[in-house]
Amino acid sequence: MEEDSIIRPELESVEEERLENTLRPKTLSEYIGQDKVKESMKVYIEAAKKRGEPLDHVLLYGPPGLGKTTLSNIISNEMNSNIKITSGPAIEKPGDLAALLTNLSEFDILFIDEIHRLNKSVEEILYPAMEDYTLDIIIGKGPSARSIRLDLPKFTLIGATTKAGALTTPLRDRFGIVSRLELYTPEQLEQIVKRSSTILGIEIDEIAAKEIARRSRGTPRIANRILKRVRDYASVLGNGRITLEIAKIALNKLEIDELGLDEIDRKMLETIILKYSGGPVGLETLAATVNEEVATIEDVYEPYLMQIGFLARTPRGRKATADAYRHLGLEYNG
Ligand code: ADE
Repeated sequence: MEEDSIIRPELESVEEERLENTLRPKTLSEYIGQDKVKESMKVYIEAAKKRGEPLDHVLLYGPPGLGKTTLSNIISNEMNSNIKITSGPAIEKPGDLAALLTNLSEFDILFIDEIHRLNKSVEEILYPAMEDYTLDIIIGKGPSARSIRLDLPKFTLIGATTKAGALTTPLRDRFGIVSRLELYTPEQLEQIVKRSSTILGIEIDEIAAKEIARRSRGTPRIANRILKRVRDYASVLGNGRITLEIAKIALNKLEIDELGLDEIDRKMLETIILKYSGGPVGLETLAATVNEEVATIEDVYEPYLMQIGFLARTPRGRKATADAYRHLGLEYNG
């Protein structure tokens, strides 16, 4: 069986979830990176607390694995409020959302992950709930049907999405706070790797933490996954301590290259370069050629390839840059 990709596992295991929970910072001050979001969030939280009001509704967007769920848990901690966690696809019918909303208590936080995947009829329930804390429900059918309005407790909705562009305008407009999470710098990831190692009781050389950070494509979730796999190599090949040598052996076995690119990244770039003369090539064509879903390419692969300047988005499709050619050892003819 092919080894599961570290960048995009097919399934998140229970074990992985437990790991993430152990490593999840609990307060804003423990949370590394995303300085802009942290600073403004600190102000909004303090102001809401001073006024004795719930925090405005928050929309968090950005690539997967950057800490949207973590940040939501922190917000609930800092607001001293309870958080209920659900996701767009889990809310199938308007009645499901109505049940969630009527079960909230004053100042609770409702976290909806993948909020861009709510269906239209569910989304429409959300508008008055967000705007006036009311719920409009229809009772009965046909000519005798009537609508009644219920008051809801004052709550905060936190929506998370990998694509803010996929949200409808009426939904997006109802969030008072909209924050984009950015890919982390190698320095921030190094801090995260060190912090995680301390929590997990792993000994790691500074230079090895740097190496893992550098190859984690800006994403704490990937850094933590790699750390765990590298630890296994350290205990089998060495005395348990993660050295640079062991980190490199493990990363190479995991087929994560010097810049953190995996097979799919390389296949994407090679396809653009070798089959489409460097591009531009349409996203759908690219997805079909590398046998991945369009959404996966857009959410998981492209953000990092664009961040490191290997991929450019043009109106006519994706293009590989001169740096991408160089990285793959291919000649660039402009
Ligand atoms: N673990 C995962 N993400 C983190 C972050 N942003 N700060 C600290 N630890 C983390």
